[in-house]
Amino acid sequence: MAASMTAKSSAFLAPRALVPQAPAGAPRGRPVHWEVRCGAYDEELVATANSIASAGRGILAMDESNATCGKRLDSIGVENTEDNRRTYRELLVTTPGLGQYISGAILFEETLYQSASDGRTFVQCLKEQNIVPGIKVDKGLVPMTNSNGESWCQGLDGLAQRCAEYYKAGARFCKWRSVVSIPGGPTPMALRDCAYGLARYAAIAQEAGLVPIVEPEVLLDGDHDIDTTFKVAQDIWAETFKYLADNKVLFEGILLKPSMVTPGAECPKRESPETVADYTLKMLKSRVPPAVPGIMFLSGGQSEMEATLNLNAMNQSPNPWHVSFSYARALQNSVLKTWQGDASNSKAAQEALIKRAKANSMAQLGKYDPAEESAEAGKGMYEKGYTY
Ligand code: 13P
Repeated sequence: MAASMTAKSSAFLAPRALVPQAPAGAPRGRPVHWEVRCGAYDEELVATANSIASAGRGILAMDESNATCGKRLDSIGVENTEDNRRTYRELLVTTPGLGQYISGAILFEETLYQSASDGRTFVQCLKEQNIVPGIKVDKGLVPMTNSNGESWCQGLDGLAQRCAEYYKAGARFCKWRSVVSIPGGPTPMALRDCAYGLARYAAIAQEAGLVPIVEPEVLLDGDHDIDTTFKVAQDIWAETFKYLADNKVLFEGILLKPSMVTPGAECPKRESPETVADYTLKMLKSRVPPAVPGIMFLSGGQSEMEATLNLNAMNQSPNPWHVSFSYARALQNSVLKTWQGDASNSKAAQEALIKRAKANSMAQLGKYDPAEESAEAGKGMYEKGYTY
């Protein structure tokens, strides 16, 4: 990485304090690895991360690949065409008042370049509501040879160029989802690959001005108990932070997207929101430095209500970081069911989105009251072997 700095970065004072400097008396005349962070966008990365991690707000994940979006549309009898995907996403990004509860929206590449029917780009629609546009940059999971049926995440090739293009198109943060699976027992090889890939991605994204969401999802598949999930989550986050540090990623300019620590989906012993919150926070407090601005959980197949109740339980006392949501299924399920592909239902579907976004906003503040929830909000969305 070049050590040169732009005029923009040299005008910003904080990163000099954030970037480790060589201690006085350090040996001279050989490469000093602690001084090589480029950091041209550091000021902006910190500002973007903090604006996404703002009180009472979280992320709308709407970055389903075309195939996964197709499955969603299929569930309501709508054909998977580019225009139907665009129409559905238009409904989401033009929801009046969304910016009060949503600070960022993760888009799929196709969606980043699409526009609403009134001619405004989706990026403009989001910015007008003070919602930061984000983009999924990984290229998906493929089977890992010689593993316990595990996967690895593709997408580092050409990533720097893609990130530069996405920044030009208006994206300011991005997501890379890698997974850890428990049923076969995660192999050290798969844990290391997941952590190292996330760290390389995060460094490349920051160099292009995008705040990286770091997402090593511990999958729900399996009948293991909550203690097993706890142990695996500790292992993957320990490795992830080791490699983030090795890759000189600026912790103040990232966001995390962990799974909550829960029992496996097929474990007969279920746990209360208070227990899930205790385990999850204990795990994160032992692994995540307070320099990280925000923890934005994924919903991972929990029901809409379960995801909200668990988040609420985690915000009953102050945390070292903003603890919020980055949900796809737990924000969109009732929206899709209400919409049914019929324009005359669009307003009601937007109201359903506001209802979920507001419930999660209250949960971010620790003030959620489930009394008015519908039966639909309590239905689980777990799918064995789910791909995103
Ligand atoms: P879910 O909330 O549906 O698990 O989505 C997770 C995700 O990674 C989307 O960005």
